[in-house]
Amino acid sequence: MIRVLSVASECAPLVKTGGLADVVGALPGALAPLGVEMRTLLPGYPAVMEALEGAETAAEFTGLFGGDARLLSGAAGGLDLFVLDAPHLYDRVAGIYLNDDGVDWPDNPERFAALCRVAADVAAGALGTWRPDLVHCHDWQAGLVPYYMKRDGVDVPSVLTVHNIAFQGLVQMDAAKDLGIAKADLTREGVEYWGQISALKAGLVWADRLTTVSPTYARELMTPEFGMGLDGVLQMRKADLYGILNGIDLDVWSPEVDDHIQTYKAPKGKAANKAALRAEFGLPEADGPLCVVVSRLTEQKGLDLLLDALPALLDRGGQLALLGSGDPALEGAFASHAHPGVAVRIGYDEALSHRMMAGGDAILVPSRFEPCGLTQLYGLRYGTLPVVALTGGLADTVIPATPATMAKGVATGLQFHPVTADALSNALIQLCDLFAAPKLWSKMQRNAMAQPVGWAPSAAAYAALYDDLVKAAE
Ligand code: ADP
Ligand code: GLC
Repeated sequence: MIRVLSVASECAPLVKTGGLADVVGALPGALAPLGVEMRTLLPGYPAVMEALEGAETAAEFTGLFGGDARLLSGAAGGLDLFVLDAPHLYDRVAGIYLNDDGVDWPDNPERFAALCRVAADVAAGALGTWRPDLVHCHDWQAGLVPYYMKRDGVDVPSVLTVHNIAFQGLVQMDAAKDLGIAKADLTREGVEYWGQISALKAGLVWADRLTTVSPTYARELMTPEFGMGLDGVLQMRKADLYGILNGIDLDVWSPEVDDHIQTYKAPKGKAANKAALRAEFGLPEADGPLCVVVSRLTEQKGLDLLLDALPALLDRGGQLALLGSGDPALEGAFASHAHPGVAVRIGYDEALSHRMMAGGDAILVPSRFEPCGLTQLYGLRYGTLPVVALTGGLADTVIPATPATMAKGVATGLQFHPVTADALSNALIQLCDLFAAPKLWSKMQRNAMAQPVGWAPSAAAYAALYDDLVKAAE
């Protein structure tokens, strides 16, 4: 039995802005059968505090980044949790990262440094009763944990998973003292990133092992094109960097068990869900494929390319139903798109996202970069064929329709490259052609639904990594 403390800023089903939450929420259940007892440390946002059951005070802190705080131990959403109850940092309406104006909370560096400080204390044995054998940190919000542990001489091994290198936890150098970062570490070999401090870099430098969420993204991260200024550090740590593909939680994302949809077992069962989805979005019957998008609307996701490529789909009788939120310019461009074949919901709606997976014919993911991506995996499981850019985890999870894969009968979706509107248009044309050939289409749907997308192989990879580290530390 290995005890792991998982440290993260979001966790499904309690608090979610993207795929990070799905992964953090699924890992404990996926790892339990492999002898890993994982407890997740989260900030005490209102949604987490409300959901917490059986809470007991495990530790108290005075003057933790400007206020007093308690560490609560309890359960919520089927997970064993430690929750940092620090109202001065987390008891806020609006977003978990952004205020009402859509701007980062100015004290985000301190909010998440507090989480890291407490994680390092738990690793040091502050609770007496429960002490982890290993700490698993997720993204920049947990990046300072390995640093604090090394500096405090806590000899518990740590793993940092990079879910997205675009978020680096940057803060001005003069915050170093407040954050408990020693002057000697404000260097290029340490936490310095182009004249600022990067909490992510602290993790990249001091964690014992690094992982990211697909093998292709692991390679991409070491290149200037995708490394976003941190490629040099990642190259230096190449021997310790692993690409472990995300899975999906099949108890939540499977057409056979999904409470949000009309249950179906075979691709045929999609028809009723599609009719319901069309009705919900006010889309008429059509001859072409009903494409869906469920996404944050940001530069990363490449949906501006879709705006340019849409005529290729619409001219062939295809349709688009989009659910997303984010960049106001993109929200506006989609919301004001006047075509009877396009329907848009701006916002965040978990239940609707399930109905879209169930009712769509295809899911579009034209990302410029994508560490793993989960919606294409949901699409596969629901027989909603993914049309994806050839990048990151999208490259690792979709078997593209080519003459060779079609001849072999193994294709599960479409991939396009380069990531341009023209290449996406061509993929949409190919999609419409395939949709017009029902035998080929249903063969691809069956392939997609049969592709293994659960957590089992990747959970085993994490468990093996933990095992190695814990044995080496003994
Ligand atoms: P990222 O984490 O970069 O946003 P992923 O594909 O890994 O991308 O995960 C996105 C997760 O967020 C998926 O579970 C997806 O269904 C969900 N999601 C994104 N936007 C919305 C939305 N507007 N409404 C509901 N769920 C959404
Ligand atoms: C990030 C990435 C996404 C990945 C998710 C979970 O948000 O953008 O590609 O699937 O983390 O690892």
